[in-house]
Amino acid sequence: MIILAIETSCDETSIALLEGNEQTREVKLLSNIVSSQVKIHAKWGGVVPDLAAREHLKNIIPVLEKSLLESKKTLLDVNLFTVTKGPGLIPALLIGTNFAKTLSYLYKKPLLGIHHIEGHIFANFIGESSKFKVQSSKYFPMIALVVSGGHTQLIYMERPLSYKIIGETQDDAAGEAFDKVAKLLKLGYPGGPVVSTRADNYLKNIKSVNDKKLREKLENILFPRPMLTSNNFDFSFSGLKTAVLYFYQDLIKLKDPSISQNRELFKDAICYQFQRAATEVLITKTLKAAKKYQPKTIALAGGVAANKKLRDDLGEMIKNNLRNTQFLIPHLQYCGDNAAMIGAAAFYRYLTHGKAHHAIELDNTWETLEADANFKLASI
Ligand code: KG4
Ligand code: ZN
Repeated sequence: MIILAIETSCDETSIALLEGNEQTREVKLLSNIVSSQVKIHAKWGGVVPDLAAREHLKNIIPVLEKSLLESKKTLLDVNLFTVTKGPGLIPALLIGTNFAKTLSYLYKKPLLGIHHIEGHIFANFIGESSKFKVQSSKYFPMIALVVSGGHTQLIYMERPLSYKIIGETQDDAAGEAFDKVAKLLKLGYPGGPVVSTRADNYLKNIKSVNDKKLREKLENILFPRPMLTSNNFDFSFSGLKTAVLYFYQDLIKLKDPSISQNRELFKDAICYQFQRAATEVLITKTLKAAKKYQPKTIALAGGVAANKKLRDDLGEMIKNNLRNTQFLIPHLQYCGDNAAMIGAAAFYRYLTHGKAHHAIELDNTWETLEADANFKLASI
């Protein structure tokens, strides 16, 4: 069967085509076009929902044409349309869902609304060769550490498509904290990639700082690790961000020429220490959850999964402490928002629903599907 997937929940317009084999349960990714609006929103320091919707509207047909061309398919070949139903920015979601509803109505094919985070989790299975299969016995039970601009959750999955949220942020999401730290240091939007680059700069440059006092000032920056030892799997990032804010405000108030002359170096050091604190909490809580739930696999999902330190340190922690646990991370091109991950989740949801004769639960005909900014992750 041919699946056409649409993602417009935030600031990427994306359409993918996939070929799913219902007998072997194998999926082949045929095309995945992503048109990013990041440059447009950067001017405003964050995503402006109405502007995002306008851009999706402008981009969606060219993205569709490109994706069809690359996949060598036409709309007449499609057997299932699928779209991100939520969560996300409602003006942005409405463009994708209405586009999908129109296609489903015109071509008289079923329509399936997918949870954005379910998509991020399935991004882990999209392989290098673009052919993949979600094997329940190989990967499950699984714990997913979901870290995006809007979510920070630890999710226990007994089997594919079953979700138990065992921990989540009490305030800001991890990606949001990266974005806010970048904003207060005036480093631009989105924050994740730039904070990570600045942290790398710190490591490269600190060795060549010869002024002992300056070096000490840089090395002694320390931020809190909120909820590190709390007796649950929850997170909090708002206090960490505030600690960075106060530290930076106090720093620029000091009339110390060694600081004002090395402002960029201090920003690098702040990024490095912030990233260390944030990743340490994420990894420690994941380890704690894994010790309790004993999963076969730990998977990383969401935009922050692109963070090199998080990928490397989590991998290292698993290797050293959880010898029988596999580690899954999405390829870099599937960490951010894309439609391939939505199509992958849709194929397995479609198969499972079909098998259970719950076709009715594919409630989302063109008449009934509605975008839902607060859509909850539902287990099968
Ligand atoms: O999943 P995503 O693309 O959109 C949402 O569903 O929210 O995640 C976007 C988030 C942004 O906060 C961005 O700063 C963060 O992912 N991000 C990163 C990196 N690349 C993107 N955070 C840390 N390090 C990165 N390399
Ligand atoms: Zn996302």
